[in-house]
Amino acid sequence: MSLTESRFVIAIDGPAASGKSSTARAVAVALGFRQADSGALYRAATAARLRVGGDSADWSEESVLDAARSVTVHPADGVFEAWVDGSAADAELRGEEVTANVSLVARMQSVREWVNEKMRECAQIGAIVVDGRDMGTAVFPDAALKIWLVADPEVRAHRRSIELLGRIPSDDELARETGELTARDARDARQTQPADDAVHVDTTRLSPAEQVARIVDLARDRIQRSGSAPSPDAGGR
Ligand code: DC
Repeated sequence: MSLTESRFVIAIDGPAASGKSSTARAVAVALGFRQADSGALYRAATAARLRVGGDSADWSEESVLDAARSVTVHPADGVFEAWVDGSAADAELRGEEVTANVSLVARMQSVREWVNEKMRECAQIGAIVVDGRDMGTAVFPDAALKIWLVADPEVRAHRRSIELLGRIPSDDELARETGELTARDARDARQTQPADDAVHVDTTRLSPAEQVARIVDLARDRIQRSGSAPSPDAGGR
């Protein structure tokens, strides 16, 4: 069995805007693995429930789980995409309304179990990089490599602002984004904890390329130690 066909799991966890998904994607490309973002599934369940309507303060756990039945996972070009009602909805998943309500949904235990099951199904298909908050603790405690990705809140807010605004933020914009991120960190704190055996990577002073290279090096080391056969396409997708 080649490495890409194996159940090799790399788990990347960390707080909001620590660059988990883009890093996980780049690491997956470098190794010829697939990537699956658990946050996208929480977002998709939230988007599906928002489409049903009603004030989120009144959402029952059952109604969210019921709406989540319209969420499906699609393997596309090395990444598992979360679709809602039969089509991709990336802008909606990243939008303000979903972001404002997703922490509420992520605290629902039955929704967490639903996401965890979907993530484990993705990992059955072959070697994978998964990212989120509790991939290395609750979902894949036996992952071959666990990364805890952190960066100072101001640096995360700066990166997120550039992504959202397409330019350098003003001092006020940066302060607002830092406040929002810190509030999200507090809302998600319960499920955002590093595994005891996670390698901590602080990206505050690292470029995206440096952080990807560091994780790919760690992964290659683990792959070598696991004795897995190298995949035919690793490094070239
Ligand atoms: O990483 P993100 O911003 O896309 O995550 C969206 C929400 O889902 C956020 O509130 C944290 C939550 N989440 C979680 O509780 N557990 C995960 N494994 C992934 C995300």
